[in-house]
Amino acid sequence: MKEQLQNIELRAKKELESVKDTAELESLRVRFLGKKGELTAILKGMAGLSAEQRPVIGQIANRIRADIEDAISNRLKEISAQQEAKRLVSERLDVTLPGKKPQIGRVHPLNQVLNEIEEIFIGMGFDIAEGPEVEYDYYNFEALNLPPDHPARDTQDTFYITDSILLRTQTSGVQVHVMEKKKPPIRIIAPGRVYRSDAVDATHSPIFHQIEGLVVDRGITMADLVGTLDLMMKRLYGEDCRIRLRPHHFPFTEPSAEVDVLCFNCGGKGCSMCKNEGYVELLGAGMVHPKVLKNCGIDPEEYSGFAFGLGLERVVMRKFGINDMRMLYENDMRFLEQF
Ligand code: PHE
Repeated sequence: MKEQLQNIELRAKKELESVKDTAELESLRVRFLGKKGELTAILKGMAGLSAEQRPVIGQIANRIRADIEDAISNRLKEISAQQEAKRLVSERLDVTLPGKKPQIGRVHPLNQVLNEIEEIFIGMGFDIAEGPEVEYDYYNFEALNLPPDHPARDTQDTFYITDSILLRTQTSGVQVHVMEKKKPPIRIIAPGRVYRSDAVDATHSPIFHQIEGLVVDRGITMADLVGTLDLMMKRLYGEDCRIRLRPHHFPFTEPSAEVDVLCFNCGGKGCSMCKNEGYVELLGAGMVHPKVLKNCGIDPEEYSGFAFGLGLERVVMRKFGINDMRMLYENDMRFLEQF
């Protein structure tokens, strides 16, 4: 029986060496030490031993069990260490490798400049106003001193929906909405989309953006208009920027002006961008016509105001030196990524 025990120990230790993983190790343990294992089977036979032999064999059996258990637990440690080492090799990563650049969206140049202009005017105490893009003829034309047969209507190729409803051709209608609702002092800008039945080319689009400005209070003069626009342009284009007003006509302002800025491409010397003018036209402006004030329930004897309307696309094109308006709408990533 002693020999049988030693034989078990020998075989167990030998087989342990070739065990490769924890599952094999467990099955080996069950085979030798488990309830139905070899060692247990022999110990069951101890009943037939003499009283002197029993403790001797018992001792040997216990030692062998302890030895095999030790050997198994040592082997377990070895296997775990090997598996751990393998795992570390397979999961190894080079933290010095350059990462993948995530595609981050960016603000469209039109919105960049719009945000900038809004900040400038908010800084001067203006509010932001909004009006509908589908508009009544009344707000787009009539209240702005353009009665139905007024010839100036022809200059704005209007998309009509019905006789009295249209897609607004200008943001100036927001002036009327604001003045109807609010009493002076009024200081607002109103950015938004406008529509004109124009064919698409490098400087035209049937949908474009304007930013309307309106200030109404006691004692507002042309000097306030010039000062406001001068400050805006200097903030937008830099301290060297200069503006110039040319007399013009709009039915809803009197006097009216077109406002040019010094060509930032040539600095006023004249180049292809400004068609040798030295200045480029950016917006229309003027003092709110007394009839318009009256149409909105504001007494022109007591109050005066100025208004301006600026084409956002033009401002953006001038600012970034873009020579084709269509680029602003095509959403070509190669173009947009430059801003
Ligand atoms: N609404 C005019 C246009 O679209 C611009 C303008 C606005 C002129 C306000 C004067 C005052 O051309």
